[in-house]
Order: sequence, then structure tokens, then C-alpha cells
Amino acid sequence: MSLIIINVTLQNHDKITSKTVNILNNKQLIITEDGSHSFYLPDLDETYHSKHGAIQEANHVFIKSGFEQIECVEFAILEIGFGTGLNCFITYLEAKKNNKIIKYTGVEAFPLKEEEIEHLNYVSELKAEKFQNIFDQIHHIEWNIETKIDNQFYLEKQLLSFDKIQDKNKYNLIYFDAFGPRVQPELWTEAIFKKMYQALLPNGILVTYSAKGSVRRAMLVVGFKVEKISGPPGKREMLRAVK
Ligand SMILES: C[S@@+](CC[C@H](N)C(=O)[O-])C[C@H]1O[C@@H](n2cnc3c(N)ncnc32)[C@H](O)[C@@H]1O
Repeated sequence: MSLIIINVTLQNHDKITSKTVNILNNKQLIITEDGSHSFYLPDLDETYHSKHGAIQEANHVFIKSGFEQIECVEFAILEIGFGTGLNCFITYLEAKKNNKIIKYTGVEAFPLKEEEIEHLNYVSELKAEKFQNIFDQIHHIEWNIETKIDNQFYLEKQLLSFDKIQDKNKYNLIYFDAFGPRVQPELWTEAIFKKMYQALLPNGILVTYSAKGSVRRAMLVVGFKVEKISGPPGKREMLRAVK
């Protein structure tokens, strides 16, 4: 295992140990069942997306169950775990298709390295070759600065640990896409969901692939109305929470 060098300083980086960084640095590119790529972390036995299909999962959990539920033409999305940029790129494509204007904030503490990004097959799997330049831009814009990708899409990637999020009444929709509660239980707690609740506008929606009872209960405690809805292929249920 080699040591990753994060060449930018994370704010209040105290909780992120070099052990975490080492674990996340040891990843393997995999092909999920729908043909789209993901990463596997052997040290955690965890993947970045569902093994049943990364694109399928993104479309079901975040687009169909989240994005499509928002009626406004212009709205703001917070993504918890920017990772490969898959959710961001699919959201861009949906914004174009549906004439929406999106302000997208992706939070990430452990950005992928260039050589990891360049192998990802999302552009070809989504048959979005004419937007290759957008996929590249999404990955190469500067961190912590809102950047106009085009008239319909504004992106800010925040290099930040989730527990440092302080936004209030800012987002219509949250894509909660952290690693699962088994490997990062500290991210599926009342403390984090309280931050998510505060970050949402009234009637804002949070969607996540997890349907775990303890996760649902933590959401309820902080004030969300929570429903279990049908999950993506390979998963019976997922959660949608409304402020
Ligand atoms: C399940 S993956 C996200 C997948 C991503 N949405 C995608 O489409 O590729 C979880 C992401 O959260 C990031 N992460 C894990 N712990 C974090 C933390 N405490 N703060 C910020 N990012 C974190 C990981 O580096 C990883 O990119």
C-alpha cells in the first residue's frame, strides 16, 4: 500500500487519519453488472456503487427517486461523497434533457487521482460522447470555487470532511452517497443527519440507497419524514426523507 499525498489542505482535518487515506488509496477498478465501472476497496470490502450496476443505481436512487421529484426549474443539490463524479455527470445530462438549471455542490475529502479518473467508462456507457468535455471539466475545475459549467449547470466541489458541513437552508435535494453504515457508521448518525436537515430548504428531500432501520430512526429523530421506497435492482428498499 502506498501513501497518498493530498496536496491540498483540508479544513480541520483532525479526524481523517493517514490509515483512512491508505485504505482509500488501495482501490481496484471493477465492472458492475450493468457494464459501468466502480471501485472496490479490499481493506473495507466496500464498493463505491452497487455491484448490480453503478449507473442503474445512480439513475434509480438519485435521479428517479430524487431529482425527478423536484418540481422547480432551478434548484440546488448537495452530494455527500462526490467520488467518481458519476452522480454529478448524470445529473448534468438530466438537467439538459429536462431544461433544468442546477447548482450542484459535491463534498469530498479524498478526491480520486487523475489516473483513476481517466479509466472510468461513464461517458461511453451513458452514450454521452458529445459531453466528454463536460465530464472532464467536472473533474478538473478548481476545488472550493463555484464554476459555471454552462448556462444550466453550476458546480462547486468542496474539499471537506462531511462532519464540517455548516450549510443552512440552502439545498432542495441531497444525494446521501457515503460508504455504507457497516464501514463508516459515524456518517449515518443523528449528528450528520441533523446537519443534512439544516442544510435543506423546507420540503427539501434527501435520498439514499440505505434502508437500514437504525438509519431511518436517526433521520426521524432529527425531524425528517421518512419513507421506504423500492430500491434499485438487487436491493429491495431505499430511503427518502423530507424536511
Ligand atoms: C460511496 S462513495 C461515493 C460515490 C460517488 N457518489 C460516486 O458517484 O462515485 C463515498 C465517497 O465519500 C468519500 N468520503 C468518505 N468519507 C468521507 C468524509 N468523512 N468526508 C468527505 N468525504 C468522504 C469517499 O472518498 C468516497 O468518494
